[in-house]
Amino acid sequence: MAEARKPIIAGNWKMNHTHLDAIQVVQKLDYQLRPEDYRAVEVVVCPAFTALRSIQTLIDGDKLEVGLGAQNLWYEDQGAFTGEISGPMLAKLNVDYVIVGHSERRQIFGETDEVVNKKVKAVYRNGMKPILCVGETLEERDAGETEAKVRSQVKEALKGVGQDQAEALVVAYEPIWAIGTGRNATPEDADETTGQIRDELRTKYGDLADSIRIQYGGSVKPGNIADLMAKPNIDGALVGGASLDPDEFARVIRYRI
Ligand code: PGA
Repeated sequence: MAEARKPIIAGNWKMNHTHLDAIQVVQKLDYQLRPEDYRAVEVVVCPAFTALRSIQTLIDGDKLEVGLGAQNLWYEDQGAFTGEISGPMLAKLNVDYVIVGHSERRQIFGETDEVVNKKVKAVYRNGMKPILCVGETLEERDAGETEAKVRSQVKEALKGVGQDQAEALVVAYEPIWAIGTGRNATPEDADETTGQIRDELRTKYGDLADSIRIQYGGSVKPGNIADLMAKPNIDGALVGGASLDPDEFARVIRYRI
């Protein structure tokens, strides 16, 4: 079934790159990618909010095949939520994907499973696709709780999300201890947990689970991406640090070569 899933590699730039830097990075990235790279892999960049408009204009103007993602949104569509950005605002910028429930949002900004669920629904309501992040802490891993943690995060985040919507879902499995630390899960461990996530999706969506893409994230680099992508349950990567530099990110995307 894995053949049916086109790999998706998304760069999560976090709080890096001004809009001017972001333009340069996307131009340099696209310059290195060939049509066959875009055919083989869906490429997405997720800049900070301040750079979305510039990158949208660049993608439209130069007809780039790079997809546009946002890193977050608020779950109400409008109103008195000072400092927040809504789904309709992102959709108007032709944003394709929105990262929801990243561990930094959960840990630093206190996002609960309930908030994550509301955000997932807001993404769908506005015609975009969520990249839903799940993953365990080191303590949870050491206590043997990885499977229970990711299954419950998936279940809670997708409450009220129907079969018709689930098709557009992307899940990112990101063990928290592997993010930005240079440590990454072994391909075997990552494949085992992504397999458990797929199984959880199967209990809810049946065979549709075979067409939902599950990324691995956490210290993905040019040197380890190929081994991760060789695993049957891993359909792409959510890349932080290594996506900031266009040369490095292009090497991640061209992992087949
Ligand atoms: P990293 O970040 O690649 O820098 O570990 C991944 C992420 O947080 O999405």
